[in-house]
Amino acid sequence: MTDEPDVVHYDRLYRDTSDTGRPPWEIGGPQPALAAVLDTGVRGPRVLDVGCGTGELALALARLGHDVTGVDLSPVAIALARAKAAATGLTVRFEVHDATRLPVPPTPYDSVFDSGLLHTLDRRGAAVGDYLALLPRLTAPGGTVCVLAVSPEAGGGWGLDADALRSAFPEPTWTDTLVEPITVLARVDTEDLHLPGHLLRTTRSLIS
Ligand SMILES: C[S@@+](CC[C@H](N)C(=O)[O-])C[C@H]1O[C@@H](n2cnc3c(N)ncnc32)[C@H](O)[C@@H]1O
Repeated sequence: MTDEPDVVHYDRLYRDTSDTGRPPWEIGGPQPALAAVLDTGVRGPRVLDVGCGTGELALALARLGHDVTGVDLSPVAIALARAKAAATGLTVRFEVHDATRLPVPPTPYDSVFDSGLLHTLDRRGAAVGDYLALLPRLTAPGGTVCVLAVSPEAGGGWGLDADALRSAFPEPTWTDTLVEPITVLARVDTEDLHLPGHLLRTTRSLIS
């Protein structure tokens, strides 16, 4: 972690397309490992994409007909996401929020997607516990959470392994938890990197 506040850090990454290229997770679409989840049916209609970046996954979910909210800490990312929504004519509520202090809506979400946020919070030493404590309140009973994370095996001294992911979603609050190995796609300049990662899927149990 650097001393730079997270919002400054991510705004700079999203803004600095000239010197450093776009952030490596900007691959022009949702993570390929999420395609199977999108294809097999997402529980809706209310869907949250938390740490949505410039909105590729949120827009793909809106294209499937869901009522989507995308939130990110970075105002620059949210401005880019809003511009994409306007260009495609899709409706998504894109809002600037810190996921560790997200307001809980009166009606919780039927599905929550976290594509690279949890590992990011962990990597930056952010308030992971606050975020994980909010998720049961954001997710409707019977609703699903899907988390995509890079594994420590990718190198670089960060990432979440299967056990760390699984222990973040304990029973009885969460049930039917599945963690599978996947490949996370990153792009540096024009080169595609295929990093080891995991996809966790879990269901918010009916027990509080
Ligand atoms: C690895 S990127 C993934 C972006 C997007 N989900 C994707 O798959 O392309 C992590 C994202 O989390 C955002 N982020 C970091 N800390 C956050 C926080 N506390 N609350 C909300 N978003 C945050 C960053 O701005 C960045 O857009």
